[in-house]
Amino acid sequence: MLHAMTRVNKLLDHKDYSLYMERINHLEKERIFCKHGFEHGLGVARIAYSYLLEKGEVSLGKEVIYAAALLHDIGRWVEYQTGEDHAEVSARLALPLLKECGFSPEDTQAIVVGIKEHRRHHDDDLSLLGEALAIADDWARDCRYCSAQNQCYKFSPAMKQIVY
Ligand SMILES: [Fe+2]
Ligand SMILES: [Fe+2]
Repeated sequence: MLHAMTRVNKLLDHKDYSLYMERINHLEKERIFCKHGFEHGLGVARIAYSYLLEKGEVSLGKEVIYAAALLHDIGRWVEYQTGEDHAEVSARLALPLLKECGFSPEDTQAIVVGIKEHRRHHDDDLSLLGEALAIADDWARDCRYCSAQNQCYKFSPAMKQIVY
């Protein structure tokens, strides 16, 4: 069954979303580790969605999961400039975007909380969306042929396996 993704596509077409992606792409041009542009967001979206489907969790809705994943790192460029934690920045920058793209206050709240939680991989009090984002964020890394394996603190042989 095809789901309408109207609000998510509106988000991707939003001028501020493109601006944040441009800034991140520019600042990560020389980065040898995983980057945080559109492809990363889309990867996390698809993995978080399959993870929740496999768990039988269908309460969140596909658009909520995709929006959260596509926005979870949009504040990276601020972290590069000021050192502020990008989970907090991304949540803050996501708010007006979600509102303008037609997400309800309830959906917006769940998305913002999930974005704030996406770096807390080992905590057990995460929201469902925060947990899905944290897990998907790890599995979205394509480590197998990465030339920076030896320098990456995230790398381990297990990271070469495919789960999603
Ligand atoms: Fe992140
Ligand atoms: Fe990420």
